[in-house]
Amino acid sequence: MVATRALRNRSHGRTVLNTLPAFGAHELVLADAFAWLAQRPPNSVHGVVTDPPYGLVEYDDDQLEKRRNGHGGVWRVPPMLDGYQRSPVPRFTVLDESDFARLREFFGCFARAVFPVLVPGAHIFIATNPLLSHNVYGPLVEAGFEKRGEVIRLVSTLRGGDRPKNAHKEFPGVTVMPKSCWEPWGIFRKPLEGRVQDNLRTWNTGGLRRISDEEPFKDVIQSSVTTKAEREIAPHPSLKPQDFLRKLTFAVLPLGQGILLDPFMGSGSTIAAASACGLQSIGIEHSQEYFEMAQSAVPQLRALYRE
Ligand SMILES: C[S@@+](CC[C@H](N)C(=O)[O-])C[C@H]1O[C@@H](n2cnc3c(N)ncnc32)[C@H](O)[C@@H]1O
Repeated sequence: MVATRALRNRSHGRTVLNTLPAFGAHELVLADAFAWLAQRPPNSVHGVVTDPPYGLVEYDDDQLEKRRNGHGGVWRVPPMLDGYQRSPVPRFTVLDESDFARLREFFGCFARAVFPVLVPGAHIFIATNPLLSHNVYGPLVEAGFEKRGEVIRLVSTLRGGDRPKNAHKEFPGVTVMPKSCWEPWGIFRKPLEGRVQDNLRTWNTGGLRRISDEEPFKDVIQSSVTTKAEREIAPHPSLKPQDFLRKLTFAVLPLGQGILLDPFMGSGSTIAAASACGLQSIGIEHSQEYFEMAQSAVPQLRALYRE
């Protein structure tokens, strides 16, 4: 049964979906993504939207421990703003060549493991960072995926913009690296079987879903930081906003048919977004703590902002 409630784009106040189906069914799995992918039948997933541990070290146990203790490691606590203490953000400038090699190995394994599981024409949206994106994208192309562009999520990420440390008075006009105002999400596609229309007929994949008859999916998306309400529901260190994720999950299945996968789901924000859009999805997480967070967060996150 199709519900008549609308899902609003809160940053622009306009309707993204005119009608919404009931919540999509979802499955949450406590597992290692690579082990899960290895036993998954070929051609059984129709799209991926994922925010992986794209610097990798930030989700190592010792780094998570340092984050909890509030000092040291890759997680940096940004200065207070308006009297409020802000959450730590990973500082990827500390990564060295061996970290980059490990990253490329991780994404190579991921790309080779997910390739057979996806149907022809399936799209992947994968979050990354301007400093690291080449280490994420290269292995996907080497595994046989086509790069189809990038989504630019316009958002102020609290990274960069600093003056030279201990020399800020000597060089008052210098910024060491740009203050980051965007987040890249790579767009990849498993090669088609035949033409786009052939692939759509056979597999329900090959393109991206339009926002409306008049408006195609676009690759620059104005976003905001994750709202307080969402952070209270899902206090994951890398929580992404529903507003943005609903646009990606809606777009990744061009006919709204098939299974969407998030192999690194964290607190399940992608799965909640897919479910809010009426899509069927599977989320994988290997940490018991975040898996349990997802179990409680998904029903609450998906219920937000549906008027
Ligand atoms: C960047 S976070 C995702 C956060 C998510 N977007 C959210 O809003 O909550 C990446 C997640 O991947 C998980 N992870 C890392 N390696 C994994 C693996 N091999 N299998 C499954 N999950 C993994 C981490 O525990 C972490 O929760």
